[in-house]
Amino acid sequence: MSETAIFEINGERYELPVITGTENEQGIDIKALRAVSGCITLDPGFKNTGSTKSAITFLDGENGILRYRGYPIEQLAEKASFLEVAFLLIYGELPSKEELASFTNSITKHTLVHEDMKQFFEAYPPKAHPMGILASMVCSLSTFYPESQNPNRDKDAVDLTIHRLIAKIPTLAAWSYKNAMRHPFMYPKNTFNYCENFLYMMFGMPTEDYTPDPVVVDALNKLLILHADHEQNCSASTVRIVGSSQANLYASISAGVSALWGPLHGGANQAVIEMLTKIQEDGGDLDKWIAKAKDKNDPFRLMGFGHRVYKNFDPRAKIIKKACDDVLEKLGINDPILEIAKKLEKVALEDEYFVKRGLYPNVDFYSGIIYKALNIPSEMFTVMFALGRLPGWIAQWKEMIENNEPIGRPRQIYTGATERDYVSIDKR
Ligand code: ACO
Repeated sequence: MSETAIFEINGERYELPVITGTENEQGIDIKALRAVSGCITLDPGFKNTGSTKSAITFLDGENGILRYRGYPIEQLAEKASFLEVAFLLIYGELPSKEELASFTNSITKHTLVHEDMKQFFEAYPPKAHPMGILASMVCSLSTFYPESQNPNRDKDAVDLTIHRLIAKIPTLAAWSYKNAMRHPFMYPKNTFNYCENFLYMMFGMPTEDYTPDPVVVDALNKLLILHADHEQNCSASTVRIVGSSQANLYASISAGVSALWGPLHGGANQAVIEMLTKIQEDGGDLDKWIAKAKDKNDPFRLMGFGHRVYKNFDPRAKIIKKACDDVLEKLGINDPILEIAKKLEKVALEDEYFVKRGLYPNVDFYSGIIYKALNIPSEMFTVMFALGRLPGWIAQWKEMIENNEPIGRPRQIYTGATERDYVSIDKR
């Protein structure tokens, strides 16, 4: 059934089409609005604005639903491998056995990074944040593959860039950690699977044998899947908008890494652990920190709480919370930070301020704790998020290119000075 929205301004009425998605989500199509009425819409932070029609991820924040290409996140996290989910997001369907074997083989073949790139790492100071290194390194890949700079639409060339990105990001991420530790870089070991290989490059040493713990491998696989896409969030929108200028895929993904870095987005997982540590060091007075979070004159926010879309609960947080308990139990870890997290969660969930605003723990609240249990240093947490989110960014970029979307270019309502004459400096 086609529906229309009636819009009236200055006594003139306009009819605008209403678009309905496959899950019955509705949106008013305002593409013609400015041309017919001279008006634009104003929506800072795009809280009510759809930037695209997308067939990748369905998210229902009110009911806590998240599906990739129709498949519930709970089933994928329980049963699939990360590369299987990456294939699903990027190519639209679950791979057959042969497709997965060929995809995995191609990715395994591309895990090495150009030897010259090793020298870049040596130039960074030891305290360099690994997200800064990762964003730069991903963009630098474009300089080693100049053919990628002209984003021709040749399927094989695009696939090669996609496979290179998925293959090389764990190597770059692990090396940024080794660089900070001033430890020797570990080259990928291609007999390991994707998650094992990353752990090997992070924690292996040339002087000893290292085999990743299967409990840790499973947890990592789950975490990467849970982070793999989240529709039009800040970093995915960034990737799409940068790509819409026809910048190459490496540059677009590098912009996504930078967008993810902020503490209001992917940087929250690092901020959660820092916050919990601070609360613990401060004596663990939760009421004091809850009061600070509620105080509008205090910039402190409870990190890991609240979400732009989920105003009920974050389905990923539910899965991670359970995974977190499992991992801590299996690894025999008793972390006082976790106790603080659990108490904080309970107090906040019962507090009227948080309840009224629909502020629930988000995925980052627990992911930081689980990464800590896996011995991953807190500065690497957002890098872990980037590893997981990569297939989502690629899928969003690919969809934008395949749909021939126009360059992203929002408008504004100008509120500055009206026209005035220049006054020479001696008269000011
Ligand atoms: N602690 C205290 N108060 C909060 C918090 C919080 N974590 N989050 C939101 N609020 C309050 C706001 O002050 C505001 O109150 P008001 O209505 O009285 O003014 C209300 O809740 C709504 O908050 P907004 O900032 O308007 O919500 P928005 O959708 O713009 O922001 C965001 C969502 C950025 C995630 C926010 O909740 C936040 O800053 N959370 C902490 C950071 C965090 O955990 N980020 C990770 C998000 S998940 C991800 O990116 C993977």
